[in-house]
Amino acid sequence: MPINQQILLDNRPTGEAVASNFMLVSSDTPELQDGQVLVRHHFLSLDPYMRGRMSDAKSYAAPQPLGQVMLGGTAGEVVESRSPKFQPGDKVVGMGGWQEYSVVSADQPGALRKVDTTHVPLSHYLGAVGMPGVTAWYGLVKIIEPKAGQTMVVSAATGAVGSAFAALSKARGCRTVGIAGGPDKCKYAVEELGFDACIDYKLHADAASLTKALRDACPDGIDGYFENVGGMVLDAVLLRMNAFGRIALCGMIAGYDGKPMPLAYPALILTNRLKLQGFIVSEHMEVWPEALKELGTLVGTGKLRPRESVAQGIEAAPEAFLGLLKGKNFGKQLVKLI
Ligand SMILES: NC(=O)c1ccc[n+]([C@@H]2O[C@H](COP(=O)([O-])OP(=O)(O)OC[C@H]3O[C@@H](n4cnc5c(N)ncnc54)[C@H](OP(=O)(O)O)[C@@H]3O)[C@@H](O)[C@H]2O)c1
Repeated sequence: MPINQQILLDNRPTGEAVASNFMLVSSDTPELQDGQVLVRHHFLSLDPYMRGRMSDAKSYAAPQPLGQVMLGGTAGEVVESRSPKFQPGDKVVGMGGWQEYSVVSADQPGALRKVDTTHVPLSHYLGAVGMPGVTAWYGLVKIIEPKAGQTMVVSAATGAVGSAFAALSKARGCRTVGIAGGPDKCKYAVEELGFDACIDYKLHADAASLTKALRDACPDGIDGYFENVGGMVLDAVLLRMNAFGRIALCGMIAGYDGKPMPLAYPALILTNRLKLQGFIVSEHMEVWPEALKELGTLVGTGKLRPRESVAQGIEAAPEAFLGLLKGKNFGKQLVKLI
């Protein structure tokens, strides 16, 4: 059986996560038992939620245990099978974690899913046609409930979730405005992702300045906001929300290192009669088939061409993950293993 390189969570961050929180180890892959398959991972998915799991603070999910393989989504190929459900060569996605191989019990519901790579590249099943894409779909369709002609705004606009949001929002006939960090990301958002406008929040020192840029980009106000960031960006958007606007609270990455993020104008939620709803995509498995069908069609027909940041080799995973938390990724952050 092959040697498996793995990355474990060695210790928990205090404040900012650092590379020494992780440890690279090697181990033998165990012999397969009946009903198990061996998967060779081609791609690891790096996602902001992993920062939350590294901490043992109270949250919606249990913390990542110390000394165990970092959890995470994986896409790969079955290389050996003792289950009639999977054959060597099957392309699969699962939650194999930060390691080169995983042994999976094929009967465990949802543990491993075969995917068709004829029209959708394997890596996109970790991004636009996977969890991040469904996240964008759920927040837009089920919480924001957009109507054609309305104005939608999303932060972290060029990332895995934000780029899928753009395609879904444009498909519903909405004016779609992004907020992203830096001129290159904003140019790409408009020229490649189809945003009607994109605002570089890094050009604005405070919410008052950012909200002026939003007024220009959203002359009819904002009806739906998909929040990925929090802090100054949320303050600026709240100032431009229309009455009865809807906010899907998806992520608050600006505060993942534990810094407090006070809301400057909470009274606007009342005076504008806003709906603000947080959600966790894995608690809404009932929408995944419908969402994945639409996202797969958007990618397969070229209407959504997601960009990826690809780090090479398992040993590159910690630095790539720390970069993701600082906006160094440009599109879905992956680690390519073969
Ligand atoms: N609720 C759920 O079920 C669920 C599921 C999936 C993802 N999420 C959340 O969705 C958000 C996006 O996830 P993703 O996978 O698509 O990641 P991503 O957007 O591909 O990458 C994260 C991006 O966040 C931005 N960012 C990082 N630090 C920031 C800061 N201090 N201020 C402003 N922006 C910052 C950076 O973009 P810029 O360079 O543009 O700033 C960075 O590229 C995250 O908040 C994540 O936690 C939630």
